[in-house]
Amino acid sequence: MNLAELNKVAVAMVAPGKGILAADESSGTIKKRFDAIKVESTEDNRRDYREMLFRSTDAMSKYISGVILYDETIWQNAKDGTPLVKLIEQAGSIPGIKVDEGTQALPQCPGELVTVGLDKLAERLKKYYERGARFAKWRAVIDIGAGIPTMTAISVNAHALARYAALCQAAQIVPIVEPEVLMDGDHDIDRCYEVTQRVLNKTFQELRVQRVELEGMVLKPNMAISGKKCPKQASVAEVAEKTVRMLKACVPAAVPGIAFLSGGQSDEEATAHLDAMNKIGNLPWKLTFSYGRALQAAPQKAWSGKSENVAAGQRAFAHRAHMNGLASKGAWESGLEKKAA
Ligand code: 13P
Repeated sequence: MNLAELNKVAVAMVAPGKGILAADESSGTIKKRFDAIKVESTEDNRRDYREMLFRSTDAMSKYISGVILYDETIWQNAKDGTPLVKLIEQAGSIPGIKVDEGTQALPQCPGELVTVGLDKLAERLKKYYERGARFAKWRAVIDIGAGIPTMTAISVNAHALARYAALCQAAQIVPIVEPEVLMDGDHDIDRCYEVTQRVLNKTFQELRVQRVELEGMVLKPNMAISGKKCPKQASVAEVAEKTVRMLKACVPAAVPGIAFLSGGQSDEEATAHLDAMNKIGNLPWKLTFSYGRALQAAPQKAWSGKSENVAAGQRAFAHRAHMNGLASKGAWESGLEKKAA
């Protein structure tokens, strides 16, 4: 392993003013997104949609440090035959790859899941590296509910995240370590804080046990946030303050950067939260975005599967990327949203 090289990539992924586009929806998830805009989820449509994003050259080069791809996409070519990976590289952005293979029910733990995909991972990573991937993603899912999460679910998922991260670094690929505590449910922000803290502590314990080099990884956590169905929604200031406090307590300063998932927050909420955290300042790591929905909902709607809407889709994407780029520096203002609208 060349740690200096891994660190260089990790630092570039969280460069000030930039963040990550999570375009790694599995076939099932992208179908759900396409259903919402009444577009059939065919291989060509998925290609056309993602090609539209990756050809948003201005947005990609200014605000998007890296793109997480799904297996299908990393092997796909643009309409003119150029590999999609090349489009990303030409824009000065780094190609990445989702390598987990989804979740399975966890035995003895009703309602809980474990992420799978470790078998043959070393071989797969080799092929992805040859194709241009310089970072990877693995997502663990922790749900909050009555009696859950169990320590069993937290432990097995942390163990798998660390196994994955160690394999990535051995393959000269920067692991994005993503333990996602879901925001579904009616729990309040303090319950989210408490569960996320347990999850992060266990995850970093496993990373240490399995000798993962913290300088060569990026953490992708959820924010400390109220459950979607909680009657009392925490303010932007409270989310920012509690998330920063939680991360300071759990994430070693050796980690170069933290790139949040959006997890079902609205576009503007996700931007406002990130911005408010960076406005607090004096942080030991970079704080940026690795958003899926919060970057893509607007372009998906503007595009709606029509080639004549490609320019509008790219404008919508460029706007969200720009807003989040500003938020990664604590330089966003809500007035900028209205100006664009
Ligand atoms: P969301 O920002 O839509 O949560 O997606 C990010 C992601 O990559 C989840 O694994």
